[in-house]
Amino acid sequence: MASLGVNLDHLATVRQARRTVEPDPVTLALLAELGGADGITVHLREDRRHIQDRDVELLKATVRTRLNLEMAATEAMLAKAIALQPAMVTLVPERREEVTTEGGLDVAGQGEELRRRIQTLQGHGIPVSLFVDAEPQQLLACQASGAQWVELHTGAYADAPWAQQPKALAQLVEGCERARQLGLRVNAGHGLTYQNVEAVAAIPGIEELNIGHTIVARALAVGLEQAVRQMKQLISQPRREPLFGAGILLQNPGNPVDALEPLG
Ligand code: PXP
Repeated sequence: MASLGVNLDHLATVRQARRTVEPDPVTLALLAELGGADGITVHLREDRRHIQDRDVELLKATVRTRLNLEMAATEAMLAKAIALQPAMVTLVPERREEVTTEGGLDVAGQGEELRRRIQTLQGHGIPVSLFVDAEPQQLLACQASGAQWVELHTGAYADAPWAQQPKALAQLVEGCERARQLGLRVNAGHGLTYQNVEAVAAIPGIEELNIGHTIVARALAVGLEQAVRQMKQLISQPRREPLFGAGILLQNPGNPVDALEPLG
């Protein structure tokens, strides 16, 4: 059975929409672990649009499973990863204008630079995974790069019209088989949902699935009703004791808290 890496990026997306402190991916990572996550994955993007530096530092200190850091293969991110020492680094392509990681890394189109960066990370004891499309040429280049792992991009399968899904799935099956023959270990992810995950989970040889957006979406669906219920309860039965700072409220004529004694 493949293990599950839960990608928490979009919890941070909600937080950053208000530049506030909630939801906090660091505290919610604990709930993901309680739910059975085998690992926590976050993408520290160069534009810091969701996950922040403080998140990865606190996650490193608190995650009890494994922290997989997704990042671009830049010198700045290399230095961050080496200082952080996550359980794994997954190298992904990054373009500022994209909504999410759009394609796999073009390992075949890159030269010595990428290979050197992979060696540097692995030399610091951090296993490197390359997020690539399940194409023979890319997988060969991954082997040549010295990386130990690949993460097969499942986006083409996830986005395929229903009639073309079997073909896209067959490419993933073949890609996984080929990667393993080349001595690479195989993860997979992107765009997987509660509706399409099972066929990928059943592919022999895939060790971990990285899944984010659909889990965050489901969390809202299963949690929203309770969250509203809790707010309704507070509104219908507010606490009557003075709260911290009630002194200020007491100066406000007409405020029902005026009737209460301030804390002694
Ligand atoms: N794997 C990689 C390399 C990714 O970049 C992402 C998206 O951040 C995922 C997996 C998870 O994709 P999704 O959010 O669609 O489940």
